[in-house]
Amino acid sequence: MSKTKIGVIGGSGIYEIDGLQNPKWQQVESPWGTASDELLTGELDGVEMVFLPRHGRGHVHAPSDVPYRANIDALKRLGVTDVISVSACGSFRDAMAPGHFVIVDQFIDRTRQRASSFFSSGCVGHVSLAHPTCPRLSAACAEAARAEGITVHEGGTYLAMEGPQFSTLAESRMYRESWGADVIGMTNMPEAKLAREAELCYASVAMITDYDSWHPDHGEVDVTDIIKTLMGNSAQAKGMVARLPQLLGETRDACPHGCDRALECAILTAPDA
Ligand code: ADE
Repeated sequence: MSKTKIGVIGGSGIYEIDGLQNPKWQQVESPWGTASDELLTGELDGVEMVFLPRHGRGHVHAPSDVPYRANIDALKRLGVTDVISVSACGSFRDAMAPGHFVIVDQFIDRTRQRASSFFSSGCVGHVSLAHPTCPRLSAACAEAARAEGITVHEGGTYLAMEGPQFSTLAESRMYRESWGADVIGMTNMPEAKLAREAELCYASVAMITDYDSWHPDHGEVDVTDIIKTLMGNSAQAKGMVARLPQLLGETRDACPHGCDRALECAILTAPDA
């Protein structure tokens, strides 16, 4: 049994969380560089919380330049046990409409210019990513979102693209029709991989803002539309986050899915090498 500490990584439109007791923004040093911003610590319903705006307050980091390793390391250093990623995304499914939330459970990683591991020569490790999100934490997010009146889709495949440009029509069709992706965004990779390497439970809440460019009845995606949808979404996302402390509780057992023991069978390099 250990204390729960909830970390929230807020995406576009979410640069703070409300209602924290003893709120304090603090800089966390990391050998992996400087995190996207200071981290906001505090308590909600007796549970310790840490919030980090992924793009920084003022939205200053582009998806390719978010310091993903420093962010995950900073959360780990503050003792976070459970990470909830909240991000805007496009949808490849009619039924997953703008305003809905998808609790992502799979990823396809099409990013190509980001440092995506804490491991490298010197310390070689290979974690399993077959199930990249934590089912226990994902179920809590789904319950919290439903209680907030949000339409929630449990399970979905997130295509992580490099950006910053949106997809071409051909790419959008290929991701949807041939690759079976459900949603598309620019930030959940390598975040999810790094959370696993850091032995953190990780859940991804994708807030749908648009139909990307494939949908015959909707125009191509643009930032103005995304912002319009995000205004409503981000208030709901904050409401969802506020329900998590009660759902997760002040203490936690070992993760039933082993997220917190991911390195037990992962490191190949000899301790004395
Ligand atoms: N974020 C929000 N909508 C998106 C889209 N259509 N593609 C990539 N990232 C997004």
